[in-house]
Amino acid sequence: MVANYKHLVREVLIDEDRLNARIAELGAQISADYAGQDLLLVCILRGGVLFLADLMRRITIPHQIDFMAVSSYGSGNRQSTGHVRINFDLKTDIYNRNVLLVEDIIDSGYTLKTVMDLLQTRHPRSLRICTLLDKVERREVVVPIDYAGFQIANDFVFGYGLDIDEYYRELPFIAAVDLSKYTPDE
Ligand code: IMP
Ligand code: MG
Repeated sequence: MVANYKHLVREVLIDEDRLNARIAELGAQISADYAGQDLLLVCILRGGVLFLADLMRRITIPHQIDFMAVSSYGSGNRQSTGHVRINFDLKTDIYNRNVLLVEDIIDSGYTLKTVMDLLQTRHPRSLRICTLLDKVERREVVVPIDYAGFQIANDFVFGYGLDIDEYYRELPFIAAVDLSKYTPDE
């Protein structure tokens, strides 16, 4: 599949150098903000996994990681319905912990809103969001974003953790899809 991703690319929006530079900044900021405090990074699978791996190597304070998997009802939909299912829950008890959610992209906001509401019931000491991409125009519910890598326009994007039908997550850059070649399910 990797051999033929090129025809799907309308434009490379964020190349590897810009990703690295911005993730280094985020890592430095998070390290400063949580200095002297406990920190647990919670990666939302699967899209957040490349971002987590790079971000944690830029965080210079001790921290732990854990994972959660969530999906909207109905596979293949890129549009969140507001019905979000937890497919895989945390192993870590987050009571009284400083939790930072690490997500690939916030679109309508429903996914993160659901995760935030669930995790708040477990009474973490703090709960914040770090997203690589913010599609701000598409927001339908308010989610407080503490750290955002890049604000992007309303394009369907892929690469660097983000998929097209589960492929191309391995690409080291973020690209906008050519809608004449691929139209995501709505
Ligand atoms: P939300 O619930 O609408 O905020 O959707 C968030 C989720 O939808 C993300 O975690 C992604 O898995 C997926 N998503 C949203 N926009 C895109 C995109 O442009 N490309 C790939 N996945 C996307
Ligand atoms: Mg995701």
